[in-house]
Formats: sequence, structure tokens, C-alpha cells
Amino acid sequence: MKNLLQIIKEAENNKVAIGHFNVSDNSGLKGIFNAAKELNLPIIIGVSEGEREFFGTKRIADAVKSIREEFNWPIYLNADHTKSLEKVKEAVEAGFDAILFDAGKLSLEENIKKTKEVVEYIRSINPQILVEGELGYIGGGSTILKEIPKDVSIGEEDLTKPEEARQFVRETGVDLIAPAVGNIHGMFKNAPNPDIDIERIKKIKEASGVPLVLHGGSGITDSDFMAAIEAGISIIHINTEIRAAWRNSLERALKENPEEVVPYKLLSKAVDGVSEVVKARLKLFNKII
Ligand code: G3H
Ligand code: ZN
Repeated sequence: MKNLLQIIKEAENNKVAIGHFNVSDNSGLKGIFNAAKELNLPIIIGVSEGEREFFGTKRIADAVKSIREEFNWPIYLNADHTKSLEKVKEAVEAGFDAILFDAGKLSLEENIKKTKEVVEYIRSINPQILVEGELGYIGGGSTILKEIPKDVSIGEEDLTKPEEARQFVRETGVDLIAPAVGNIHGMFKNAPNPDIDIERIKKIKEASGVPLVLHGGSGITDSDFMAAIEAGISIIHINTEIRAAWRNSLERALKENPEEVVPYKLLSKAVDGVSEVVKARLKLFNKII
């Protein structure tokens, strides 16, 4: 079985992106895995601190491991948006493949200091675990937005600067970075998200020399995704679109079957709804027509 770094290197060489999809429970996990299996593609499962709290940190690690072993599948687990050393330790102990340490809201100096500590800790326990750092603030939750959150880094001046990315990687030793390039967490109901600064991605990639992760994938246009991958993005995070598909499919199932009380009959519709969204994204990210 290839490790996650090898899978990322392959994606870089083939100019495709690996899909990173968040889950809250087993119906999401099942829907995402079904899509990856149908298309024969590797995937990364992400769980934020809140999602881990709900699923169980050890339980999601065991669930992903059991899929990997049962199907001999390249499925990997990321501790998404981890904000404290304590939560980093939990994920390391549970056996995660990657950890995103998110100090993106802090000043560059503070961010470097804290991220460096985390990298040193993780390397001392298990050098196989990949560490991602966050540069810039792209908003909090994966939800349906009414307006662009006020404090996100979206203005030209607030986007990640190539020189800062270089310094951040050099001083922290992270394996991957998540830059702010016009992307935001969450999506609008009836409108696309703001444009992605493709030139900025190219420059950050050149300056940093590490694989880049595009967060806030929900709501980004297909053409921006394609250009972003071409410019150097190797992993793309999607969450809100999955959450919306889960809710909409479940609502439909409840409405169409008002007497039904069997959870697996209702939840299987949510699984299928998630699967459809993930399949469409995976096809795009992997240039499958
Ligand atoms: O880490 C999670 C992602 O960045 C998801 O963002 O909800 O906008 O797709 P999204
Ligand atoms: Zn994110």
C-alpha cells in the first residue's frame, strides 16, 4: 500500500488533485468511499475537531483503517483544522495519516512558532505523519453563507504572499501548506464563490516548493478548479456540498416515506446523495470525462 506522500507525489506528477472529503458520521464515510471505489481513486477523509468529537477520534481512525484493510484501498485520514497541541496528540495516538495544524488566524511569527512546535512533536513520535500548515484565514465553518464573513483573507493584500509561504515552510518544516488564494469556507445557496487567484497559486507553489492544499472547495467553479490544479494544487477539500447533499437527500427520503422508521432505509438515501456529489468532484479533480 502506498503511503499518502507517494499518492500526493503521483497527483503532482499527473497534474490532478486528490479529493479530501469531510465526514460527521458513517453515512458520509460510506457515501464517499462508494464514490471512490466506483471510480477506482484514492481519497482522503477529513475530520475537523467538531466532526471528531461527534464521530469519535479513535472510532473514525479505526473505521478508515478497516476500509483500507478490507478493500486494500488507498484511503487516508486527516485531522482537519486542528487548533491545539492536545488535539494534535489525540490524532497522533489514534493513528491519523495527516494533521492540519491551523494557526492561520495568528500573525505570521506566532503561526510559525506554534506550527514549528507541532511539527517537532509529530516528527518525534511518528515521522510518517504528514503535517500541513495554514497561511491566512479563510473563515470558520462549512455552512451555507449569506455573505462573505468579515474577517476572511480575501482582499488582494490579505492573500498569502509567496515570500511568506517560503519562510513558513523553511522555518516550520511542514510537508504541505493551505494558502489563502481567494478561497473561503462555506458556499452560497445560489451563487458561486469568489474567484480564485490562479497566478497567486503558481507563485506560492514556486516559492514554497511543497504540495498545496486548496480548502473551501464548495462553491468554487469548475473552471477555477481546473486552473488551480494546473497551477499547483494537489489536494482539494470539500465539505459544505457534502453536508447539503446529505441533508437534502435525507429530507427527501423522510418526505417520500412518512411512515418509515428503519434508519438504514432512510440513511441509505443520504449515502447515495453524498456519493453523487463526491463522484462529480472526483471526476473533475482527476480529469475523468
Ligand atoms: O477543511 C474543510 C474544507 O476546507 C471544506 O470547505 O466547506 O467550503 O467545502 P467547504
Ligand atoms: Zn478547510
